[in-house]
Amino acid sequence: MSDPSLPALEKVPQHVAIIMDGNGRWAIQRGLPRLAGHKAGTENLRRVIRSTVEFGVKYLTIYAFSTENWGRPPEEVQGLMLILQDVIDRELNELHKEGVQLRHIGRLERLDPKIQQKVLKAIELTRNNDRLILNVAFNYGGGMRSSWPSRR
Ligand code: FPP
Repeated sequence: MSDPSLPALEKVPQHVAIIMDGNGRWAIQRGLPRLAGHKAGTENLRRVIRSTVEFGVKYLTIYAFSTENWGRPPEEVQGLMLILQDVIDRELNELHKEGVQLRHIGRLERLDPKIQQKVLKAIELTRNNDRLILNVAFNYGGGMRSSWPSRR
């Protein structure tokens, strides 16, 4: 039965994908450092995830950190890595309770080994959940060299 407190939607999409963009502009407009925008954008994700679970969206893909983003100033890259770690530390248990399955899109290799461990642990803990599949694209890119052998 549908929840009467939610607006009636004819059709709920199966898959919603979000590119995290505009964090920097949001912060600059408010006279804040760019990292404050990344933190605010991340806080917003909590509401987005809760809503997708409530509406019955099956897949949510978050494009968070592309391979191009390594070219940002080192303090910003470092700050983004800390945000990722912090989100896993603070939110993993709650996401697990809500039935969210975490998956990672991209390469783990270049990330700090401590972060790699946290991501792998989150994937392992939530692997049997099926209420929402949450794909986190972190260190993803279209220009990555393929690991398939070349035919030439
Ligand atoms: C783009 O905004 C945003 C990013 C490059 C980083 C977003 C990633 C995080 C906040 C890390 C959190 C990750 C998870 C999985 C929660 P921008 O700086 O390009 O904004 P602008 O276009 O306004 O400059």
